[in-house]
Amino acid sequence: MSETRPIDFPFFALPDADPADAAATAHPPVVAARGAALDLDRVGRRFPLDGREVEVLSGISLAAAPGETLVVVGASGCGKSTLLRLILGLDRPDTGRILVDGRLVEGPDTDRGIVFQDHRLFPWTRVEDNVAHALVAHGVPRRERLARARAELARVGLSAHARSWPGQLSGGQAQRVALARALVARPRILLLDEPFAALDAITRRRLQDEVAGIIRSEGLTAVMVTHDVDEAIRMGDRIVVMRPHPGRISRILTTGEARGTGPAAETRRRQITRQVLDDLGLR
Ligand SMILES: Nc1ncnc2c1ncn2[C@@H]1O[C@H](COP(=O)(O)OP(=O)(O)O)[C@@H](O)[C@H]1O
Ligand SMILES: [Mg+2]
Repeated sequence: MSETRPIDFPFFALPDADPADAAATAHPPVVAARGAALDLDRVGRRFPLDGREVEVLSGISLAAAPGETLVVVGASGCGKSTLLRLILGLDRPDTGRILVDGRLVEGPDTDRGIVFQDHRLFPWTRVEDNVAHALVAHGVPRRERLARARAELARVGLSAHARSWPGQLSGGQAQRVALARALVARPRILLLDEPFAALDAITRRRLQDEVAGIIRSEGLTAVMVTHDVDEAIRMGDRIVVMRPHPGRISRILTTGEARGTGPAAETRRRQITRQVLDDLGLR
């Protein structure tokens, strides 16, 4: 968990596109993020509010290398969940574009899975059926759906609860099921929207390590939202700090040696924490 991975990939945080410059979003990116697992190119999103359009996200440019974990932090309402919904394909950007493995995101697909803060399991159907259900839309036959769901539940340590009802699970177990459901279609990109926020400290720590282990062993590319700077440092290869009104990237920090042990790591952790809290106006 504490080692750092070398990343041989060119990272670019492009400057915000000028919203007045229509050409900024009508053409391919100036700097293409070659080889990126996930590439956001000047992504913007507006929502109607009280009869006018509010810009929620503006000029979000960001690329993740295969196997990289990006952790997004930012004030409540700055557009973090909106950003994940756009990557998932549940919502479409008004400007810019999102590419997964070089392909334009036009809707949800098996290459992306998501875990939310609340588990969002169907209470009326058993744990294994909740997980299997994620494969229905992809045309997987029922028998195979169940087999894959059980395999996925085994991976998150919940085989004994496959036939349980969601209401019989603890918070941590329910999040494990949500994780199994996100992974059952074998995505390349895992999105996590404050997945541990509602858990007690010990469960949270355990799940952080388990999720990090799965991300690493599967070579997944992950984008996780959190409010917890320690969690961001522990799980993220890079920390993306966002500012609100409109939501935009204010800073990208590489965790690097902060994830090691010893005094240099401790110094780097303090430095990152200070920078993040400064940006969030919390210090
Ligand atoms: N579908 C929507 N329609 C209108 N406004 C929305 C919609 N989704 C999000 N918003 C607004 O966009 C802003 C960002 O929301 P969100 O992405 O949930 O922020 P965060 O996850 O950072 O707390 C909020 O002001 C929210 O009210
Ligand atoms: Mg949110």
